[in-house]
Amino acid sequence: MNPGMSSRMSRDYLELAKLSVSFDGFVAVDQVSMSVLPGELRFLIGPNGAGKTTVLDAVSGLVAATGSARYAGHELVGRKVHRINQLGVGRTFQTATVFEGLSVLQNLDIAAGSRRTAGTLLRRRAQTPPEVAETLETIGLTDLADAPAGVLAHGQKQWLEIGMLLVQDARLLMLDEPVAGMSHEEKTETGQLLRRLATDRTVVVVEHDMDFMRSFATSVTVLHTGKVLAEGSVAQVQADPRVQEVYLGPGYSAEEAEAVFSGAAESTIRTGSDGSN
Ligand SMILES: Nc1ncnc2c1ncn2[C@@H]1O[C@H](COP(=O)(O)OP(=O)(O)O)[C@@H](O)[C@H]1O
Ligand SMILES: [Mg+2]
Repeated sequence: MNPGMSSRMSRDYLELAKLSVSFDGFVAVDQVSMSVLPGELRFLIGPNGAGKTTVLDAVSGLVAATGSARYAGHELVGRKVHRINQLGVGRTFQTATVFEGLSVLQNLDIAAGSRRTAGTLLRRRAQTPPEVAETLETIGLTDLADAPAGVLAHGQKQWLEIGMLLVQDARLLMLDEPVAGMSHEEKTETGQLLRRLATDRTVVVVEHDMDFMRSFATSVTVLHTGKVLAEGSVAQVQADPRVQEVYLGPGYSAEEAEAVFSGAAESTIRTGSDGSN
C-alpha cells in the first residue's frame, strides 16, 4: 500500500456547507449541508423535484452554486467541470452516456485517455492497460470487452458508465438513479458493486428505489424542496414521521408507511458483504 494512502483516505471526504443553487430566483437547492466519508454508501433520496440531481450538478460544476462543496480539501464551488474532474470527482447521469457503436473496451479506453497526457495518448498501446483490465473485472464485463456497447443490457450499460469513472480514478462517485429500469438481479449486482467500490471510495447514490436503498445504504440524507429534511441510518429516516409525510402525504396509516418503506419494521441496516436480502 502506498504510504500516503491512509492520510489521503482520511481527507477524501465530501463536505457540503450551505450549498445553494437558484434558477432565476427559484431556489432548487437551499443551504444543504452534509458530509460523506470514504467507506460510506450514502443515499440521497427525496420526492421528484427535491433537488437531488441539482446537488450532484453543483458538486460536479455543471451549475453555479453558492456556499461550499469541499472534496479532499479542495473547494469545488467556482471551479470548472474539468478541474473538478481532475480532483477525482466523477458522476453518472440517469441516461447512460456510453458510445453505443464502440466496444466496451474502447469506451473504457477513451475514458482512461481523458486522464492521460498528450504524450501517452499519441503512443500506440499494444495491450489492454492494467487499469482497464482491472476495471473490466470489477464491473463484470470482461467477457463482453469486445462487444459493442449498444448491445449491452440496460444494467450493463450503467456498469460500463461506472467503469468509465473508475478508469479515470474517480475517488468520489456520484450516481444518479443507477438502478432505474433494472431487473431485480441487476439491482442486486449493482448494489454489491457499489458496496465494493465504497470500501475505498466515497459514494453518493441518488435513488428512488426504496427497496434498493434499504438493502444497500449505510446512511441516508432526505431532501425535500431543496432542503435537508432528515439524515441518519436507514432505520432512522424510515421511522421519521416528516419523511413518511413527504412520501405519503398527511394522514397516512402505519400500514401505508410500512408498505412504502417495505420492511420498515426491520431496523437492521445490512452491512454484510453478500448483499442478499
Ligand atoms: N436548469 C434548470 N432551470 C430551472 N429549473 C430547474 C433546472 N434544473 C432543475 N430545476 C428545478 O429545480 C428543482 C429540482 O430539480 P432536480 O434537482 O432535478 O430534482 P430531483 O433530482 O430531486 O428530482 C425542480 O423544481 C426543477 O424543476
Ligand atoms: Mg433527478
